[in-house]
Amino acid sequence: RKLFGRPEEQRAANARARSRGPREAWMVHLVVGGGIVGTFLASTLAKNGGRVLLKARSALRKEAALVAAKAGVEVVQSFEPVVERLRTGALPQLDAIFIATKTYSLAEAAEQLACAGPALRPRLATIGCYNGHVLGVEALFEEAVGGPFCKSLVPGGYTFRADGSGFDVTNAGQKWSLLSTRPEMRELARDMTRLGVATVTGGFEADARKYLVNTTANLVSVISNTNCHGLVSNVALLNRMRHIFREAVTVLRASPVHASHMPADVSLDELEEQVLSGIASYGAHYPSSCKDFRAGRPVEVDSLNGYIVSIGRQLGIPTPFNAAVVDDVRIVLAQADSLLSGAFDTAAQPLPPPPMPFAADAILSTLRVPRRFNITPG
Ligand SMILES: NC(=O)c1ccc[n+]([C@@H]2O[C@H](COP(=O)([O-])OP(=O)(O)OC[C@H]3O[C@@H](n4cnc5c(N)ncnc54)[C@H](OP(=O)(O)O)[C@@H]3O)[C@@H](O)[C@H]2O)c1
Repeated sequence: RKLFGRPEEQRAANARARSRGPREAWMVHLVVGGGIVGTFLASTLAKNGGRVLLKARSALRKEAALVAAKAGVEVVQSFEPVVERLRTGALPQLDAIFIATKTYSLAEAAEQLACAGPALRPRLATIGCYNGHVLGVEALFEEAVGGPFCKSLVPGGYTFRADGSGFDVTNAGQKWSLLSTRPEMRELARDMTRLGVATVTGGFEADARKYLVNTTANLVSVISNTNCHGLVSNVALLNRMRHIFREAVTVLRASPVHASHMPADVSLDELEEQVLSGIASYGAHYPSSCKDFRAGRPVEVDSLNGYIVSIGRQLGIPTPFNAAVVDDVRIVLAQADSLLSGAFDTAAQPLPPPPMPFAADAILSTLRVPRRFNITPG
């Protein structure tokens, strides 16, 4: 009593302290998607003192469940209990919602959020955490959730450690970027940084570079079943990637949405060398699309080269090389589906060694920008 005064005085004092203190001190975040990126984000924020809910679709895999439980993440299977607690005041308004699903699951996530109703509307924003671009995604989530949506650049490559002790992260030193210039995003970036996920705002150019690397390499790796060594070691694949890259740049530079975010002060030739060097620098790494294909999971096609084809069509720019790689991947996926009929355990097969001796150094010596650009092929 002496220390804190009467309950009403105490409540008033608490309210005054809260109004003075930073809102970050009690932010609440909801992460949608209990895969690798979602579990990494949720458990890192929670481990460092954040209040985090993780909405999964199915049961978390063993390693994810261990990491989430250890970090104090609250895992839910539907939005209903969250909405109920928000309605009764048991949970304060959400500050941000992070969508960490594959791009082909974004529409489903948006629909579920829309069905859950306006109680979920976050104070700051809904943040997309995925690779590539999806047509109309801002409008989709702004309508479903209310409030602004912005994509983020997820900088690393994440894998679960088999013993459930955490993650192995490539490019761990690079920062998460909230691709927005809105002032309130700085508040969110500060909170994420405070909670162990170093985050900045902006980063449009880094995102454009990463997208170019993914678009140049990922689907070619699926149809050739090749890692990054193999991609840059094979002259035919290298030529194919060069054509895909050039078309992608032409489309993005012509697009009102992307033009101002494209790397400035660099010629097309230099950018091509940077992107190919970025791919080469990942050597034995298999791009995520190739890993997904080999594990029997769907492949993110529409948000990579499929997006270039769609935007090219809108702008009247032909994109035959991007269209061809999209078609080839669809054929490979259809063949795998019909061959395997879901019965073949592709996940049990180890990734093959590079299909040819690594001759990338010879090719790299023809690139004038060697291994300087640390861009993860995702
Ligand atoms: N992995 C990386 O290192 C990395 C790095 C940078 C960027 N990215 C990008 O980040 C995105 C996410 O990748 P990821 O590797 O985390 O994928 P992932 O491991 O496949 O995880 C996606 C998760 O989303 C869940 N999901 C789908 N729809 C949902 C819904 N309506 N509600 C709740 N959960 C839902 C899936 O549930 P189910 O288990 O039921 O399928 C799955 O667990 C992708 O665009 C990827 O390209 C990945």
